[in-house]
Amino acid sequence: MRTPIIAGNWKMNKTADEAVAFVEQIREGLNATSGVDIVLCPPALAIPAVAASVKGTKIGVGAQNMYFAESGAFTGELAPNMLTPFCQYVILGHSERRAYFGETDEGVNKKIKAALAHGLTPMVCVGESLEQNEAGETHSFVSGQVKAAFAGLTAEQASVCVIAYEPIWAIGTGKTATVEQAGAIIGGTVRTAVAEILGDDVAQQVRIQYGGSVTEKNIAELMAHPDIDGALVGGASLKPTFVELVANAA
Ligand code: 13P
Repeated sequence: MRTPIIAGNWKMNKTADEAVAFVEQIREGLNATSGVDIVLCPPALAIPAVAASVKGTKIGVGAQNMYFAESGAFTGELAPNMLTPFCQYVILGHSERRAYFGETDEGVNKKIKAALAHGLTPMVCVGESLEQNEAGETHSFVSGQVKAAFAGLTAEQASVCVIAYEPIWAIGTGKTATVEQAGAIIGGTVRTAVAEILGDDVAQQVRIQYGGSVTEKNIAELMAHPDIDGALVGGASLKPTFVELVANAA
């Protein structure tokens, strides 16, 4: 049985003070929800304050990115061992990082290995653009992303990872993939790609989230699909109604 996981990716929103004020608003409601893992992913500078604010609750903390080295001349980057005192999770390979900051499949693969070596659970993002979708390339592209991300991982390492399927055309657009579309890619492409390189057992253990314009209104329908194990939520995780979203997912 895969425990559903709902993560809020706040992207570049909220100062540390704003983050704590928001967590104080939603903490009790989130903590009262059972049957689902909950993760908040604030901007890096707000991570320590958010971690302190959720201490003693069931709410986990994740970073939005990480570098793979432990230290060195990498100006502006954060190392895995800098995150571990505060975080249990880290988002890797988000489409915004791939599009604006030059992240490659190869780099994402290195980051996944580094995260796992430090006991952080990677939430690995994959997903096709509108052009790729319209050209009928979704299956081959997303399958390739998954296989590149998981290359060289042991079954044990891969099985603890979380994958987020986020079609780029659905991010921040209000255009959610239908349950049929999301379920078909998550089951037929993402889980199948994991099975092809690591076997069926691993594929059945890996939790796969959907991401892209998820709200408190559409989450229950998405979660009803047997292959959808949760959501990576952007805009809707910045509002107090995130509590409702998580409750509707549980
Ligand atoms: P939205 O929920 O705002 O569409 O963002 C999705 C996303 O990119 C989460 O990582």
